[in-house]
Amino acid sequence: MNLPPMGDSALFPARELDTPALLVDLDRLDANIQRMAAAARKAGVSLRPHCKTHKCPEIARMQIAAGAEGITVAKLSEAEMFADEGFDDIFIAYPIIGEHKLRRAARLGGQIRLIVGVDSFEGALGLVKACDREGVNVAVRVEVDLGLNRSGVAPDKAVDLVQNVIDLGLDLDGLYGYRGSGYPGATGTLAERGRQEADLLLGVAEACRARGIKIKHVSLGSTPTGIAAAQVPGITEIRPGTYVFHDNMQVAQNVCTPADVALTIAVTVVSRPAPDLATVDAGSKTLAGDIVPAGAGLTGYGQVVEIPGAYVARMSEEHGVIQLPPGAEVKIGDRLHLIPNHVCTAVNLSDVLYGVRDGQVETIWPVMARGMRG
Ligand SMILES: Cc1ncc(COP(=O)(O)O)c(C=O)c1O
Repeated sequence: MNLPPMGDSALFPARELDTPALLVDLDRLDANIQRMAAAARKAGVSLRPHCKTHKCPEIARMQIAAGAEGITVAKLSEAEMFADEGFDDIFIAYPIIGEHKLRRAARLGGQIRLIVGVDSFEGALGLVKACDREGVNVAVRVEVDLGLNRSGVAPDKAVDLVQNVIDLGLDLDGLYGYRGSGYPGATGTLAERGRQEADLLLGVAEACRARGIKIKHVSLGSTPTGIAAAQVPGITEIRPGTYVFHDNMQVAQNVCTPADVALTIAVTVVSRPAPDLATVDAGSKTLAGDIVPAGAGLTGYGQVVEIPGAYVARMSEEHGVIQLPPGAEVKIGDRLHLIPNHVCTAVNLSDVLYGVRDGQVETIWPVMARGMRG
């Protein structure tokens, strides 16, 4: 079919779209955005959603309209794109390393309110040199490793790094951390994990204050733990991302129900290689290879909405082989919908998202920050 230009309002049946296609249920998207905004408001914390999930300025605008104070991104190129789109309060929750990138960050810091994550003395020093050269100052949050062992300074070294940041003349804005729900040695309910990560980060904030250092923001992330963390007095901001769409990982952890999942992938059955298998036209070019951690009762790379118990068992680039439960009736040409395990990586593989209400495509959003690695 001939599609209208991207970003325009369109109205045609979603079933006319060629597959695979990423469909966003606009009512569910709106409900998810409102629910998280209300939870943050009720807890008295700022909401700075991570835009890595949707990578779309239009959805970020909806989040801001619902009360988010600014946005979070992982990459400088994403920050540049969102700034070009008019966003003027952006947190890059990722260490920026390398002279050229630091120069770009400093330039961006001269145009908008930019907050940059720092987790090393090298990073802080590079940033201050770049800022001095450009004659600007950017706000800095020191990242503390809360147990994910991915990035962030160890809690017992954090106060020294914070002091370094101040001594170098950078504008300290606070502390941040990210642990999510699955980290080495994770224990307790999601609510308990949220409170634990909050206590860990607040402990570092207290240690800084004991040295006379002013800490404005104490910022935590994650869709599964963010709301619980927000209840802990002293936490000032949360940065959930996945909540806009949700996915199998969230369903598996009871963070949401399947009825809250706002993004599905429309696919077509192209072959029936065996009575218990159906092959669809979405493989690893459409679904990333994330798997739900063992023990959650969800196998494979994606679940089929229409057939409980059916899942994508194998993938090659263009083929997704669905394992069917006994008695499932599936014909070549049938259209099915998949829930991805990890929605952020699935979105990153797609050029556009189709916003759908009552079976009609209402809008087409380009995934403008897809593939932005730098
Ligand atoms: C630094 C950081 N903050 C916030 C988030 C958002 O967490 P979630 O996707 O669970 O909502 C992420 C996700 O990876 C992250 O890496």
